[in-house]
Amino acid sequence: MGAFRFRNKQNTPCGHNRLPQRWSYKYWGERGERNILETDCSRSHITFTMVYACPVLLLLLLLWARPSLLAASPRTYEDTDRLTGERVQCERCPPGSFLRAGCSSERRSECARCPEGSYTEMWNHISKCLRCGACGRNQVVKQACTAESDCQCECKQGYYYEPDYDSCVRHRECPVGQGALTKGTPENNTVCQICSGSTFSNTSSAHQSCMEHKKCSDSGLKMVLRGSSWHDSVCADCTQLKDAADYLRETIPDFVVYHNMNVKRLRRVVHRLFPEDLEKSRRTSGLSSSELHAEINAWAASATPAQIRQLPDLLKNRAGDWLKNMLDHIETRLPEECGLGNGTEGN
Ligand SMILES: *[C@@H]1O[C@H](CO)[C@@H](O)[C@H](O)[C@H]1NC(C)=O
Ligand SMILES: *[C@@H]1O[C@H](CO)[C@@H](O)[C@H](O)[C@H]1NC(C)=O
Ligand SMILES: *[C@@H]1O[C@H](CO)[C@@H](O)[C@H](O)[C@H]1NC(C)=O
Repeated sequence: MGAFRFRNKQNTPCGHNRLPQRWSYKYWGERGERNILETDCSRSHITFTMVYACPVLLLLLLLWARPSLLAASPRTYEDTDRLTGERVQCERCPPGSFLRAGCSSERRSECARCPEGSYTEMWNHISKCLRCGACGRNQVVKQACTAESDCQCECKQGYYYEPDYDSCVRHRECPVGQGALTKGTPENNTVCQICSGSTFSNTSSAHQSCMEHKKCSDSGLKMVLRGSSWHDSVCADCTQLKDAADYLRETIPDFVVYHNMNVKRLRRVVHRLFPEDLEKSRRTSGLSSSELHAEINAWAASATPAQIRQLPDLLKNRAGDWLKNMLDHIETRLPEECGLGNGTEGN
């Protein structure tokens, strides 16, 4: 009788996360002739599911394997006694074992435990256990391989299984202005929601949910700029009034991220922020977006109110107008909230 060899060519996944893989099927015929069939089959177990998943394979299995080598039932198979040439009913081997020696009219089938690193999941009469799979790219072992079952893999932290690509894909990051409604799992992508009502998110993140705007009144402060989906409320302490530009300063890092300017634009902004610093200008040409953001944030932290007031003109375009509006807003609210007359001459 012939024997099948099933080989998982790539060291790709086992278990339920079915990543594309090539299988090769070798069939040793009764006279030692060898047939090789290669097919793409997204199942790593030799089970009936797999056979159904691969109609071509099913057909070939039916044609080639007269007695089915792997079957759920019955627990015996028919073989020919080598010495007498009689037909004999042999016992199959249970899951976790393989057939070390076939039966004869005098001897029962001899089964042996699958060696480490191999398994059989069904009653069988294969001469070698199936090799355990290995987890694929961006996967981790969920359940180790045992003699009776192949290992199970799942996507590693930060990744989920995407059936469309049949692979583990990084969780979506909710952009600024959106928060995670449900965090990503090994099975599901992050679900984002727009921060509405009194909530905001000032980070691009796969797990940060929308946060409540702070309530200035809770700490005895006055709100001088209402929070939006991408920045927190800005509060003022009326007993220690500052220039309106000092309140705008707080929102500049969030503003820069929210406006999502491209690298070229960010470089131009940084150049304009440090017009006389030639050394810095030269250096910015090699900086990434996040490094440029850091430059702007550092500038904002130490700029004088007068310098901050120039930022809208320096940004130009819509972003500049937007920032100017925010500043105007603070400028009108500040005296109102703090019960002053006109102007910002607080102290
Ligand atoms: C995760 O995805 C599965 C389908 O892939 C779906 O049935 C299930 O409801 C999802 N769970 C959540 C929490 O969205
Ligand atoms: C986001 O807002 C919080 C609360 O106002 C603030 O503490 C934090 O620094 C902000 N993060 C960024 C990246 O701007
Ligand atoms: C506030 O300033 C405006 C013009 O800037 C002026 O018309 C108004 O009288 C001022 N009000 C007070 C209370 O000083």
